[in-house]
Amino acid sequence: MTPLLRLSRAAHLAVAFTAFFGDVRSSAAERPVFQLTVQTQEPGAAFSDTMHGVFFEDINYAGDGGLYAELLQNRSFEHPAAMHAWAAVGDGVKTEVLHDDGVHPNNASYCRVTTAEAGAGLANTGFDGVQVAKGATYRASLHVRGAGGAKVSVTLKDRDGQTVGEASLGEAPATWGRLEATLTADRDAAACTLVVEFDRSGAYDLDVVSLFPVDTFRGRPNGLRKDLAELVAGMKPSFIRFPGGCIVEGRDLGNAYRWKDTVGPIWERRQNDNLWANRESPQYQQTYGLGFFEFFQFCEDIGAEAVPIVNCGMACQARGGAPAAMEDLGPWLQDALDLVEFANGPITSPWGKVRAEMGHPEPFGMKLLGVGNEQWQEGYFERYLVFHAALKQRHPEIQIVSSSGPHPNDENYQYAWKRFREGVPTDVVDEHYYRAPQWFLANSGRYDRYDRRGPKVFAGEFAAHDVGRASTLRAAIAEAAFMTGLWRNAEVVTMASYAPLFARQGNVQWAPDLIWFDNARSYGTPSYYVQAMYGENVPDKVLPVELDASMVPPTAFAGRVGVGTWNTQAEFKDVVVTQGDKLLFTSGASLDGWELHGGKWEVVDGALRQTSEEENVRAFVGDPGWTDYSVRLKARKLAGREGFLVSFASTNPLATSWWNLGGWANTEHGLEAPEIPQARTPGQIETGRWYDIRIDVAKDAVTCFLDGKQVQQSCLEPVPAVFSAAGLDEESGEYVVAVVNPGDTPQPGLVRIDKGPTGARRAQTLCLTSASPLDKNSLDEPRLVAPVDAEVTFNNGVLEHDFPACSLTILRAPSR
Ligand code: AHR
Repeated sequence: MTPLLRLSRAAHLAVAFTAFFGDVRSSAAERPVFQLTVQTQEPGAAFSDTMHGVFFEDINYAGDGGLYAELLQNRSFEHPAAMHAWAAVGDGVKTEVLHDDGVHPNNASYCRVTTAEAGAGLANTGFDGVQVAKGATYRASLHVRGAGGAKVSVTLKDRDGQTVGEASLGEAPATWGRLEATLTADRDAAACTLVVEFDRSGAYDLDVVSLFPVDTFRGRPNGLRKDLAELVAGMKPSFIRFPGGCIVEGRDLGNAYRWKDTVGPIWERRQNDNLWANRESPQYQQTYGLGFFEFFQFCEDIGAEAVPIVNCGMACQARGGAPAAMEDLGPWLQDALDLVEFANGPITSPWGKVRAEMGHPEPFGMKLLGVGNEQWQEGYFERYLVFHAALKQRHPEIQIVSSSGPHPNDENYQYAWKRFREGVPTDVVDEHYYRAPQWFLANSGRYDRYDRRGPKVFAGEFAAHDVGRASTLRAAIAEAAFMTGLWRNAEVVTMASYAPLFARQGNVQWAPDLIWFDNARSYGTPSYYVQAMYGENVPDKVLPVELDASMVPPTAFAGRVGVGTWNTQAEFKDVVVTQGDKLLFTSGASLDGWELHGGKWEVVDGALRQTSEEENVRAFVGDPGWTDYSVRLKARKLAGREGFLVSFASTNPLATSWWNLGGWANTEHGLEAPEIPQARTPGQIETGRWYDIRIDVAKDAVTCFLDGKQVQQSCLEPVPAVFSAAGLDEESGEYVVAVVNPGDTPQPGLVRIDKGPTGARRAQTLCLTSASPLDKNSLDEPRLVAPVDAEVTFNNGVLEHDFPACSLTILRAPSR
């Protein structure tokens, strides 16, 4: 079977495409500039029922402080900084976090509050404060123990200490007991605290102090934040992959995600550090209040298949985590087998019983299970094969998703595919690609060459990373262009999900993301709308398209040069930039002219020395307009984990445009720039040795030399001016056509439905575009970039239409 696209390479008309492409302006504009024929007579493969879905991971406070509607932080005092988010209220209050005789052994810590007066207690500040809405009700609950029958109450106080709502919970019992009450906010208020008070002095033990909006998604207790869940549901995802990501793997196996820790009453769940805690968010924890039951229930609520990923006995290889020895694999495998029982087993089975006790006696009907995330090489295959054999033997009905590593073309990925081709069994292979927008344009044909009889592909994590990792329309449209290739190859690609899903403003470890929020507001990025447009319009059968459009060259390499480090100290000297015979720059004995980004820089013996441990330290010099040049320098590593960064063609200090020597913990050299696919090759940098580095930057190619030897080269490839895919929606009887114009001028096109209905027929268009390719949405302008629908007319199966600059258009045309 051939890919269902024919693209004319004849550049019969050229237009301006400066968003992505060089200026190739035509002298006379003719209409139309491209022709697209949808071949309706030979429908191709059926789309899978799980074509477009979402990837959830608790990163950027996606779970706690995000989708999980709990308003308090560190409710169970399990945090390493025990009193994080808590403060004493009243004079003479003493607090002590204890660990013996708690509510449950999995949730051992609790706070002993000793008060000296009536009305004293503890206050929780939530996540950046607790935000409440006038008239909304909230369910407060806590576990408490204390002699003397003190009355316990909770009060919401605004930032001025004024009461916004209050409730009495009843008397503290002498042994652990759970109290609960609802309270109503009498006005809108941000940055509140929840104060827990006792009406007399004494010693009280407190744990699992919780405040939930009653109005969660579908009104579920321990439920999801409504606006965020609705945004997810609005994408019409056919599956939810959970709980990640690297979080499944853990920094080490002690930090790995174990689903059994996440089920049962919330006070019996064992909490975990969040792998994504970093310098900006060192306090990031997982309460597991949003656990596997809640994930399955959310899937059921929105009609999505559940795609849980289990740890295969391997910690995150990218973080250097050690795997479990083969003889210790048992518990990890048992987790996977028990998960099938939890999801699908009868209520008489041990784990089916747990599910039933949580309120869901009927099976969840799980069909897919991922084994490992971003794992690679034989260490993975050894373990994966054990999982595969056991799972298929016990549960042949479950489809297994396997990993191919984190990078789309590196040797680990090649190795994985070699193993699958050699016969390692799998149902679906999970591929990930976080790349520059240009990569997505250049790779729309990625699956054209995949074996139709081989394993299916799950494009399990992808996102176009624009300059500064901004969620621009331009990035979204590059994803849209790439996704036409997923549709055309629906025979091979059966699942796809953008990643990550959520980001809490101000608590971000990873951008870009699909949905952003603060305590009260939320919005979808342009990429969100691309996912939603594809998700809502998946056809049933692929229809071949013939596209007669030009190929256009990408923007030429141009920009400054620079030197830098990543967790490494190094020095650089004799930096010389030449353009043919012309000397553009030569470094001297000072930092004059260098633009420094982080680090500790000084000039020592004529060399630029950088001595900080930081990541991503750089110094730039030169002119953003420089093209066709060579940069030469000497570099020496002094200490640290990696090697050198030598920037080229840099127009934005935030963008990755460099030769990374000794990257990835000094294991590889990487050539990276937004315009090219990332290229990596094994390589190390020795400490104390001077290296000669040269990078030749041509308009359409970058060539890198180490000690006079060419090590890497990348060339810019022309890409199509227009991308398209089509399908048949059998139920509505409509042809669905996706047309993507990534350029920054409109593309007049002729869309022809081969043997389409005669006469004038109205059709719907849904179009995502904006005034500038760099436009973004924000909390203040949540729908600056959002799809707009309109009607158009096909005459005898033909539509002449201007496809706006930087746009995705989905056409739905009647077939009868
Ligand atoms: O989506 C963020 C991270 O990217 C995921 O955890 C991981 O799988 C990938 O490297």
